[in-house]
This record gives sequence, C-alpha cells and structure tokens, in this order.
Amino acid sequence: MTSLAHTINERFTFVDQTEKEDQTAFARDVRIGLTASPKHLPCRYLYDRTGSLLFERICDLPEYYVTRTEREILRERAGEICDLLPDPTTLVELGSGSSAKTRVLIEAILTDRETLHYVPVDVSREMLRTTSVALLKAFDGLEITAVAGDYRKGLCFAENTLDEPKCFLWLGSSIGNFDRVAARDFLRLIRDTMTESDRLLLGIDLRKSRDVLERAYDDSQGVTAQFNKNLLVRINRELDGDFNLESFDHRVHYDEEAGRVEMHLVSKVEQTVRIDRLALNVPFTRNESIHTGYSYKYSLDEIDELARSADLRPQRRWLDAQRRFSLNLFARTDACNLQNPLATAKT
Ligand SMILES: C[S@@+](CC[C@H](N)C(=O)[O-])C[C@H]1O[C@@H](n2cnc3c(N)ncnc32)[C@H](O)[C@@H]1O
Repeated sequence: MTSLAHTINERFTFVDQTEKEDQTAFARDVRIGLTASPKHLPCRYLYDRTGSLLFERICDLPEYYVTRTEREILRERAGEICDLLPDPTTLVELGSGSSAKTRVLIEAILTDRETLHYVPVDVSREMLRTTSVALLKAFDGLEITAVAGDYRKGLCFAENTLDEPKCFLWLGSSIGNFDRVAARDFLRLIRDTMTESDRLLLGIDLRKSRDVLERAYDDSQGVTAQFNKNLLVRINRELDGDFNLESFDHRVHYDEEAGRVEMHLVSKVEQTVRIDRLALNVPFTRNESIHTGYSYKYSLDEIDELARSADLRPQRRWLDAQRRFSLNLFARTDACNLQNPLATAKT
C-alpha cells in the first residue's frame, strides 16, 4: 500500500491511501466477477469521477427518497446530535461523497464550537478533493484531513493517527451494499476501532413497499440506469473493453424475503464481449445478468439485532416523519455516560 500525505495548507491535508495497484485491483476484480457464475462486479467500482457525479444527480431525483429523508432528519436533529457528541470530536466519515448532508452537521457543530477536525474517507479521489476545498472555503473553523482510500484504510488511519474522541459517520445507507453477515462483520470492525468515548452515526434505510423501492433504483429519467451502465463504460475505458451499452438493460428487483434491492445489467442478446487488457472473451447468453449491487433494507428490530451482534449499544435513533429512514447513534456496549439509551424520536 502506498500512503502519501500532502499538506496542502495548514487546514488541509490530503492522504492518498489508494493502492498504486488500484488499476490492478480493478482488473483483478473484473476478471474474477465476469468469469464467475453468476457474473458480478463490486459496487465500489461504480464510483469513478463520472459515477460520483451521476450519484449526485440520483440524490436529487424525486423517486430517490433516501437522501431527502436522511437530510430531513439531520436538519431537524443536528443540534441534538451535537449535544450527544463529546467535545471536542473528530468527525470521521466513511464514503463521504459530496459531504452534502454532513455540511448540516458541520454547521451545527461549528455554531457551538470554534474548531472541528473532519476526516472524510472515499475511494472517489476527485470528489474528495473538490468537496474538501469547498468545505474549507465555507467554514473557517474547519480543518480537513481527507483520506483517499477504501473504508478499511480509513478505519486504520483513524485508529493509528487520531487521538481525540471520534464520531464515525456512515450515511446514505451505504451499509445496505453489504449482505447481512458482511454488514455485521464490518460494524464489528468499526466497533473495534472505537474507544469508549467514540460514537457511530449510522444512516440505515428501512423496509418498505416494493413499488417505492423499485422506483427509487429505477427512476423515470434513467439516471440510475446511466449510473449502473457507467461501470461498463469504465471497463471499456480502463481495460480496453468493447461493451456495447445498447445491448445491456439496467434491471432492478426487490427480493422482499431477503429485504434487498438488487441491481443488474442484463444482456439483451447472446454475445461475446472482448476485454483486451485482460486478454479475455466474456460470453453472455440472452438475458444473462451481471449483478452490480445490493441495497439491503432493515426493520427496526433488524437494526437492533445487527447492533447487538456487533457489540454496539444504541444510544439514540431518529426517524423521518414518514418512517422511511433511520439515523442511529451507537456507542460501544462498554461505553459509560450514555444519555437516553434506546430512545427513538421522529422528526
Ligand atoms: C451511496 S454513496 C453515499 C455518499 C454520501 N455518504 C451520502 O450519503 O450521500 C457511497 C459513497 O461511498 C464511496 N464508497 C463506496 N465504496 C467504498 C469503499 N469500499 N470505500 C470507501 N468509499 C467507498 C463512494 O465513492 C460514494 O462516494
């Protein structure tokens, strides 16, 4: 792993924890995924520069309630959340993206406190840099250490480098991209990185009707379809592939029993795709799919169970007015001084 820390100025450090072998990892994962049966590609690769910009457009779509509802909770409850965080607190955000919702929290913290150290972590390097520069311009009291790398590298960085109490943020229901076992295991990893005074603020989307869910991931303007197909564009560009976008459909299905939305790219015809840099021919039958992502949904009981199994103690939970989304504040089970344990509030 290469780790390069560039101090841009006294308020901004950019730590590049991406592997020099990023390209190699992408090539390896594409080969593994497209030669497997059934075919699959890891959803983290959806977020190159174009993918990150497309995701920002998704956040504004009328069907994509996820961002709106979480933002609603944050706007209503930012003051309350700040009061539950130790002073000072370093905010460490996993998969920060545009940090648009986090701004609400940053603003609330800086209303009460003079300075704040924010550590956004994201695989999308350009988005991370642009966002950090914009935030530093907007908030005088802010200091940013941006970590370009995956979640695990961000946790490692936090554990080895940050001394102050921390609040880990994992918003946007990104936990839903993990299956239920992997979600528990990853929460345990976060828990093991936390000290007794640290907190985790976790946004988790709730189970709801098929109709609402399938429309959220298959919008009428086709932006989510473009986001999904951008993965093929990325393979074409970075690995010299010859995917014809017109011959694949974006398809979304809600598996109610499993409680997950599945995203697929489905071949409309029998065809063989060539990926030159992998010296690979990938045969597709008609209707064969590449699975490109899950979005698991949770009931409130499932969230409690998830927390228990990861040794985390719910300190507070907030829901939006329509009970579509939950924001959960957790501490380690052995943390002391928890106020209002297990309380739930609606905005
Ligand atoms: C669904 S978006 C959420 C963005 C933002 N947190 C929000 O709530 O709007 C997921 C973000 O996590 C980043 N991401 C995805 N997989 C990641 C990984 N394994 N490690 C680090 N970042 C990741 C993506 O680049 C993207 O910015």
